Amino acid sequence: MAISVAAGTKVAVTGAAGFIGSHLVERLLDRGCAVVGVDRRSPRSETSARLHLREVFNHPRFSWVEGELMHVNLKEVVDNSACVFHLAAVAGVRASWTRFEDYVAANIVATQRLLSTCEQAGTPKLVYASSSSVYGQVNAASGENDPTLPVSPYGVTKLAGEQLCLAYAKRPASRLSVTALRYFTVYGPRQRPDMAIARILAAALTGQQYTIFGDGTQQREFTYVDDVVEATIAAAEVDVPAAVINVGGGSSVSMIDVIGLAREVTGNPVPLTAVTAQAGDVQATAADLTLARLLLGYQPRTGLRTGMARHAAWLRDLPPELLRKYAPPPMSIDQKEPTCWK
Ligand SMILES: NC(=O)c1ccc[n+]([C@@H]2O[C@H](COP(=O)([O-])OP(=O)(O)OC[C@H]3O[C@@H](n4cnc5c(N)ncnc54)[C@H](O)[C@@H]3O)[C@@H](O)[C@H]2O)c1
Repeated sequence: MAISVAAGTKVAVTGAAGFIGSHLVERLLDRGCAVVGVDRRSPRSETSARLHLREVFNHPRFSWVEGELMHVNLKEVVDNSACVFHLAAVAGVRASWTRFEDYVAANIVATQRLLSTCEQAGTPKLVYASSSSVYGQVNAASGENDPTLPVSPYGVTKLAGEQLCLAYAKRPASRLSVTALRYFTVYGPRQRPDMAIARILAAALTGQQYTIFGDGTQQREFTYVDDVVEATIAAAEVDVPAAVINVGGGSSVSMIDVIGLAREVTGNPVPLTAVTAQAGDVQATAADLTLARLLLGYQPRTGLRTGMARHAAWLRDLPPELLRKYAPPPMSIDQKEPTCWK
């Protein structure tokens, strides 16, 4: 079923205090929607959540539900929502080798709990934030019908979440339509500080070392957060009962190129420490965007240089104590879990 994300439409966003979720909330409010945001990160006690939600927290059309998806009253969150945007997840590849239970609880069990509540509430649409990590090692641009062979526990949980969504949508007599979007590495202001571009730009701005895994030839398709948000809203409006769609930035670049661009947009070199590639890191990601163009009218608008310049400007405007959180000491080879901020 297609819905219209227009003024007056009530929608819910899980993971609202996160990087992508907080941008999505802003855009939905700009469109005139009434938005219920849910997240277990508290703006009262966590700097990142406070920073991410500061423009919307007191907005008259924004309601805040603080809590763990496994425990909050989800009926209250989804009731009368035309669409639930499900972005809450434990994200990141490396920590998924050591904190698997957290990934399973947040990415699989909580997703099932949400789907069951949506089914009972008669929610017409759910948009699920899936990931390019479901593809695993690939040699060419990934299409949605290609095999899914994730090489990290994180990728396995995102694929399981995606499959759960599709199973609920395909259930006989189901009234729930699902669009799962496979995001390809998203960057921009508020990007999680464990992610490469945030760390590279922060290293350039502070002079801290950036730890590069592998020889820098690994290729990534980077997607600017505004493009991802546009695609996510368009996905709610698409009239298909169950779909999986790639969302990428339009081209793939090497980490060496990204480091060169960081130097250009900040005017500073990036101090580097190189260590061997880690389990779960794929050599390349690239998206076939044919379906996104066809179904969502999607066209990535922000090129990497422009997007990185905006991301760098945002980091530069942070108070020094916050910027330092984006440039933690270099990771050691044994350190599986990057230092994250609260
Ligand atoms: N950032 C990327 O490059 C990228 C790429 C592919 C897919 N994704 C997916 O997009 C979504 C958003 O990613 P992000 O980078 O904004 O991550 P993020 O960590 O910034 O945001 C996720 C938010 O979900 C919340 N959350 C997690 N588990 C929860 C739970 N059980 N109950 C309540 N809240 C919970 C977290 O507190 C966090 O605020 C995730 O589903 C992620 O898997 C992100």
